[in-house]
This record gives sequence, structure tokens and C-alpha cells, in this order.
Amino acid sequence: MPTGNLPVGIVSTGISLPEKILTNNELEKMVDTSDEWIRTRTGIAERRMIDETMATSDLAVRAGEMALANAGLTPGDVDLIIVATVTPDMYFPSTACLVQEKIGASKAAAFDISAGCTGFIYALAVGSQFVKTGMYETVLVIGAEALSRVIDWSDRNTCVLFGDAAGAVVLRPVEQGAGILAVELGSDGSGADLLKLNAVGSPGYRLSGSAEENDRTGIADYLQMAGSEVFKFAVRIMGECAAGVVSRAGLTDRDINIFIPHQANIRIIRAAAKRLKLPDEKVYVNVAKYGNTSSASIPVALHEALLEGKINKGDNIVLVGFGAGLTWGAAVVKWAV
Ligand code: UT7
Repeated sequence: MPTGNLPVGIVSTGISLPEKILTNNELEKMVDTSDEWIRTRTGIAERRMIDETMATSDLAVRAGEMALANAGLTPGDVDLIIVATVTPDMYFPSTACLVQEKIGASKAAAFDISAGCTGFIYALAVGSQFVKTGMYETVLVIGAEALSRVIDWSDRNTCVLFGDAAGAVVLRPVEQGAGILAVELGSDGSGADLLKLNAVGSPGYRLSGSAEENDRTGIADYLQMAGSEVFKFAVRIMGECAAGVVSRAGLTDRDINIFIPHQANIRIIRAAAKRLKLPDEKVYVNVAKYGNTSSASIPVALHEALLEGKINKGDNIVLVGFGAGLTWGAAVVKWAV
């Protein structure tokens, strides 16, 4: 078994966004809300929605294929596929196995990771270990979500927040001193009820009960969230976790070139940026266009920041997320390509 300590980095990115756009004005006609409330409380203007013929794995495939093409690689080069998702096609097999087959990555191992909206950071951390040790050379990490399928469209507290998307990165060995410099992960299961989607292992679970039935049993098959509790946790943990990982990388706030946080709420992002004393131009934000896309939000934001020329070789990027679990995680990446 190889036991190296190879530098590993993100060598390319890819994304997939459903074409259908759901605007705040359209939501105004569905629930008691307003464009003004949504914009000022969340920063969201619109979000994407997967069409009924598509699966999470389809979004993941498109993002993964784009990332591979951008790296000049083929599916046959991939040693491992990790998909981070809370909205898999099926409980089993994993969405990663479906992606493996659909893209024809014939030699790849494949599995999913469930860590809520922190899923991408967890998957990045896990995938990078395989490259670091020398066990695998090419790992495809994808965050993919079809959250519109698990939303209660009559609940204004949640239905305005989420969207569908996928983002992918390719991990490979990079030059010494570059790549993923530090990672920090955490969890606190005492907050499990704050943001959840029950599954078949829950006692008393039943699929698609009526609203009355779900109220009676307390069991529902749609996303449930205690928004303001998650908000307080997010504001604290984003700043703490990002500051922790920067120090673990041996850097200071001034060394950060760009901060790419999980895109859940503009107010949470601003609070974390303030903690790191970062000016607005160093904080990447696209929450207005896509809402909260859970595991997909960080890789989608990273891809768009690259496209917009906001990242150059040698830049220090801080990625940070938080989510259901509760979980949190951050990484410092020195851009290597
Ligand atoms: O990736 C992790 C996933 N989750 C999150 O990141 C969510 C974190 N939480 C948040 O982003 C915020 O807590 C929310 C955006 C969900 C809510 O913002 P808030 O400032 O915490 O509002 P609130 O929950 O304290 O609600 C304030 C008021 C309430 O009315 P009353 O009780 O004061 O009369 C809500 O009923 O706003 C009301 N409200 C709405 N009004 C219009 C809640 N949702 C809506 C809505 N439109 N969509």
C-alpha cells in the first residue's frame, strides 16, 4: 500500500445548471412572500429547477464530464468518483455508481457522501487523501442536488431558499507547495433536528403521507428546517471554521486572495467575511442567481469565479461550508494550474 504525502490540488472544474428558472415574482404567486422580503433577508433573486425527466445523476454527469474535459482527461482516466448529495436518485445504489456507468469511467471506484451542505468539502477532504497517498491519481468529486424535489412548496420558510445544480472538480497531484494546504471538518449531531429530511429508517416513517398525516406523526418526506437556529449556527461557524483553516495552513487573513463560501444567505456570507476582515472584492457571491444548492454551491461558485478571471495561479482560496448534521468544513487551496 503506498504511503506517500503527495501535494494534491484541484486541476479543473465543471458545472451543470437546469435551464428552468423560478423567480421571486413567481414564488409570490405560490406562497405568502415578496420579492423584497426574499432579496433583503437572503440575497436570492432566482433559482434553477430540474425538469421532471431528469435525475440528480444527470446533473452530476454533465458537471463531471465538463470538469474532465477542462482537465484534458477522459472518463477512462478516473480512478474514483465521489458524489456529495442529500438528494440521491436512490437510497441505493449510490449516485456515484450511476455516474460511473453513465460517463463510462470503467476503472473507477464510486461512492456517495452525505454531509448536508458541507458535502462538497467533506468529499474534497476524503478524495484528496487517495491522491495524497498515491493510491489514486485522478479523483472526480461532484456535488449534485435536486432539492426542488424535497421542498414543501406550501412552506414559505423553506421554499424560497433552495435550488438545483451540480458542480464538479478533478483532483490530481500538483507541484510541491501548491494544492490543498489545509482542511478542517466538524460535526455536532445534537443539531440533527434543525435541518432534516426523514428517511425510511425513521421509526413510523411513511412515504408521502398527507399534510395532516405528517403533522400527526411528525414524520414528513420533505425538507424541514428551523431557519433562525441554523442562521445563528451558520454565522458563528463559518467565521470560526474559516479562521481556523487559514491558521492551520500557516496563513493570515491578508494572504487570502478569494473567499468562496457556501451560498445559503448573503447575510451569513457577509458575517463570515467580516470575521476574516475581508473586503467585498475578495468574497465571491452568486447566491442571487441560484439560491442555496447545498453540496453543489461551492463547486459552482468556484467554477464561476474561475470563468470570471477572479482566480490566478498561486492564489490562496478559502472554501467554507456548513449544513445539516450539523456539519461544517473548510479548505485552503493554493491554485496550482
Ligand atoms: O445550507 C444550510 C441551509 N439553511 C440555511 O442556510 C438557512 C439559514 N437561515 C436563514 O437563512 C434565515 O433564518 C431565513 C432566511 C430562513 C429566515 O430569515 P430570518 O431573518 O431568520 O427570518 P425569521 O425566520 O426570523 O422570520 C422573520 C419573519 C417571520 O414572521 P413573524 O413571525 O416575524 O411575523 C416569518 O414568518 O419572516 C417571516 N417569513 C417570511 N416572510 C415572507 C419567513 N419566511 C418568509 C418568506 N416571505 N419567504
